[in-house]
Amino acid sequence: MNIKYQILGFFGVLVMMSLMSCQSATGNQTGSEYMPDMAHSVAYEANTYGYYYHNRWGTEDDLHKIVQPRIPVSGTIARGYAGTSDHTGGHSHQGIAYKANGSVPYYYADNEEDRARAIAEVINNPYPITTAGLEKGKQLYNIQCAICHGEKADGNGYLVRDDGGKYPVQPANFLLDEFVAASNGRYYHTLIHGRNLMGGYSDKLSYEERWNVIHYIRSLQAATKKLEYSEKANTFNNIEVPYAVLAAQKGAQTVVANAEVAVDTMMVKEVGGKVNQH
Ligand code: HEC
Repeated sequence: MNIKYQILGFFGVLVMMSLMSCQSATGNQTGSEYMPDMAHSVAYEANTYGYYYHNRWGTEDDLHKIVQPRIPVSGTIARGYAGTSDHTGGHSHQGIAYKANGSVPYYYADNEEDRARAIAEVINNPYPITTAGLEKGKQLYNIQCAICHGEKADGNGYLVRDDGGKYPVQPANFLLDEFVAASNGRYYHTLIHGRNLMGGYSDKLSYEERWNVIHYIRSLQAATKKLEYSEKANTFNNIEVPYAVLAAQKGAQTVVANAEVAVDTMMVKEVGGKVNQH
């Protein structure tokens, strides 16, 4: 008799347990799970925040931190932004440089309207005039441009001279007043998109290289007018900045910055003194 009740009781409890374990989630009822350790992965999904309290390997804050977007590696350059480097190998004083692949966005399309806009709006060469930059520009100009535009930039390159082939059109003569007066945008736009029979050079010259070539063309123009266009001085125009001038300005800024630091240090000392009196 006793044994009968015990067996009944045992099965009763078993039925109760299985009923309880089978509750499913409905409405306000969260339901209950029996040993759910494999049901919910502890692996985290990138940038998804879902804290599950059975994950006991960290606090809610830890998990929250892990699912945040990663901080970029230092020195990372966002797409579309120029990095930092200059001809001297250090940081550019203007914060201008180029991405490793030389790709910097150019927002002017290959049509007459945008060309006119580029000529009007692209004024400054983002790089200062440096000896190294002019040297690089010379090499690149002689390789990429001189065959048509001539080593002297007079439009009389090997391909159009009698001893060369028979290039059908006259390349631009950069020594003409028209090109001396032309804005940097006219050169840069042509380098990106080409012009009539001349192809574009955006795939052959990086951002920095294009501007080096333009610097070099300017130096050839200055030379024919017996004006100086170098790292030390620019008597040719008042647009491009010689490196020496910038360095002098930067030196002045450093002096001001040092003065500010000195003032800060004094304030710290004062506060320190007060703290010591307590
Ligand atoms: C294969 C020959 C050739 C090469 C190489 C060449 N060009 Fe040209 N370039 C031309 C011709 C031809 C024109 C004239 C196009 C026209 O106005 O119809 C021209 C025109 C220009 C113009 C004037 C565009 C305008 O606004 O009127 C610039 C600036 C220029 N080239 C820069 C360069 C530079 C910089 C290089 C070297 C990276 C270069 N070119 C390489 C053939 C060439």
